[in-house]
Parts: sequence; C-alpha cells; structure tokens
Amino acid sequence: MDAHGEVGRPGRILISRHEIAARVAELGLTIRRDYAGRFPLFVGVLKGAIVFAADLFRAAALPASLDFMGVSSYGAGQRPSGSVRLTADLSMSIEGRDVIIIEDIVDTGRTIGYLRRNLATRHPRSIALCVLLDKVARREVDVPVDYVGFAIPDEFVVGYGLDHRGYHRNLRDIAVLEPTEAP
Ligand code: IMP
Repeated sequence: MDAHGEVGRPGRILISRHEIAARVAELGLTIRRDYAGRFPLFVGVLKGAIVFAADLFRAAALPASLDFMGVSSYGAGQRPSGSVRLTADLSMSIEGRDVIIIEDIVDTGRTIGYLRRNLATRHPRSIALCVLLDKVARREVDVPVDYVGFAIPDEFVVGYGLDHRGYHRNLRDIAVLEPTEAP
C-alpha cells in the first residue's frame, strides 16, 4: 500500500478557505455581541479544533481566555469506537466562568455530550457550544449546539484541523477524503 493508501487523499473541496474565513468572521461577531461585557473562557477540543479555535478566538476579539482539553473518540478508522476518553485536561479552573466549547465537528454527538457533562460538574457560570461542522444526519446523542458554522452531509472530511490518521490537518480548505482503492 502506498503512502496515500495509508493516510488517504483529500479530494473534492467541500468548503473553501474563503467560505471558512467568512463564516468564522460571522461567528466571531455573533459571539462578540452575545458575550459583550463578559470575560468568557474558550475551550478548544484537541486536536481537531486547534485551527478553528485560534481563528475564532481572534475573530471574537473579546477580553477572553483560551484553554484546551483533549478527548479521543476514534480508533484509527473513520467511525467512532463508541467510547470517549479524556487525554488532556484543562490547565485552569472554570468555576464561575462563561465557557464556550470550541469543537471541529459533531458527528454522533458522543464527544460533545461527554464534554458538556464533564465540564458541567466543575460549576461554570454557563456553557455554550460552538462547532464548525455539523453532520446532522449522524446524530445519535441529542446535544444542544449554540453556534454552528456549516451543516454538512455524511462524508468524511479533512483539513482546517480535521484529520485522517493524524494527517491533513494543515490543509487550508475542507475536503472530502477520497475512498482508498481495494488492494
Ligand atoms: P462524535 O463523538 O461522533 O460526535 O465525533 C466527534 C469527533 O469525531 C470529532 O471531534 C472528530 O475528531 C471526529 N470526526 C467525526 N467526523 C469526522 C470527519 O468527517 N473528519 C474528521 N474527523 C471526524
């Protein structure tokens, strides 16, 4: 199997870098208005949300702090394994804070459901959830999402932080992963 067989090949662009930038600017403005006068804490979900979190954090241009949390929900493949695991915890207390969770994509909803439950036990003042991509058709767990970048069809996508087997996070556009050919 060649290198592309292992990591997959990004194919058709689903959302261009220009569309992403325009939508992130809009989301930033909305969050800026909604949190005016407050000092929210953005919590980016590692690793997929790092690119989105960095852009949104700047677009919101609020007196805000930024922290990260790591969760793992996937094995090596393209489907969730079903269980969610905490791989890295926050570096600060969220007690009394207005928390905005920044996630790259909601698929079944398990990861975000786990995160919401986990953070709620730490007594924040409020929790909101902002996701860049929402695969609406695949939802299994009903979780409230406060801010959504784009609703997308059930296709495996890479780029702008999203990976396949650790690769393609550094693509500027969001592309559909091409199916690998049978050996
Ligand atoms: P959920 O727990 O099923 O909602 O899965 C959410 C996690 O699955 C995300 O944080 C991603 O890491 C991963 N994921 C789901 N769909 C995709 C995709 O199309 N591309 C890359 N990662 C994905």
